[in-house]
Amino acid sequence: MADHLVVVIDGPAGAGKSTVAKMAAKRLGFAFMDTGAMYRALTVKALRAKLNLEDEQALIKLAEVTHIDLVNEAGKPLKVTLDGEDVSETIRSTDVTNNTFYIARTPGVRHVMLEWQRRMGREQSMVGDGRDLGTVVFPDAAYKFYLDADFDIRCQRRIDELKAKGQPVDEQALKADLAERDHKDFTRKAGPLKKADDAIIIDSTSMSIDEVVDLIVRRVQSKA
Ligand code: C5P
Repeated sequence: MADHLVVVIDGPAGAGKSTVAKMAAKRLGFAFMDTGAMYRALTVKALRAKLNLEDEQALIKLAEVTHIDLVNEAGKPLKVTLDGEDVSETIRSTDVTNNTFYIARTPGVRHVMLEWQRRMGREQSMVGDGRDLGTVVFPDAAYKFYLDADFDIRCQRRIDELKAKGQPVDEQALKADLAERDHKDFTRKAGPLKKADDAIIIDSTSMSIDEVVDLIVRRVQSKA
């Protein structure tokens, strides 16, 4: 390994991980690995196939015959492909968001994802964001961050994001969904959201995105 640097950012939904990881990757000249997008893409395929999402064996089989790619192109948003199809927009729908936990809680599926993610980490320097990257997937990552923010702030950021896209927002439903996702992420048996002992905690409650990115980039550059 060695000549590639892996930087991981774990934390709860809505803490700003993806935005921060993407910007930090760009500034460092690294690839960006959005692991949530991978779980979401597999959810799209399972929903389309009308699989019983409680059927673990069916989900594992599906993962084994699926090809998910994260395409990093300079100056463009991350492209997520599912068996060659661009699903970058589809994976953000509420239906997909609310069903991803079936995929994420299945140990056999997490194992397949882990193999994909480790392969990407061997091929290039990257900044990845997720839930279990620092604890399970890359326990030896060069840099580990745990990005958190108060629940109300995380909700507000999601609300602002949707409003900026011109989408209708049911604020009460959004808060309930986020609370439920937190609960599921923290309590599932396989790959729960957990701060790695050696991760640096960043509480972004009163920080701007740029401040968080700066902190991460400076930390990596100071030791690289
Ligand atoms: O980060 P994002 O909200 O896109 O992730 C979607 C879902 O995928 C999360 O709710 C989480 O349950 C799951 N996930 C995971 N492990 C990761 C990344 C995401 O279980 N490394």
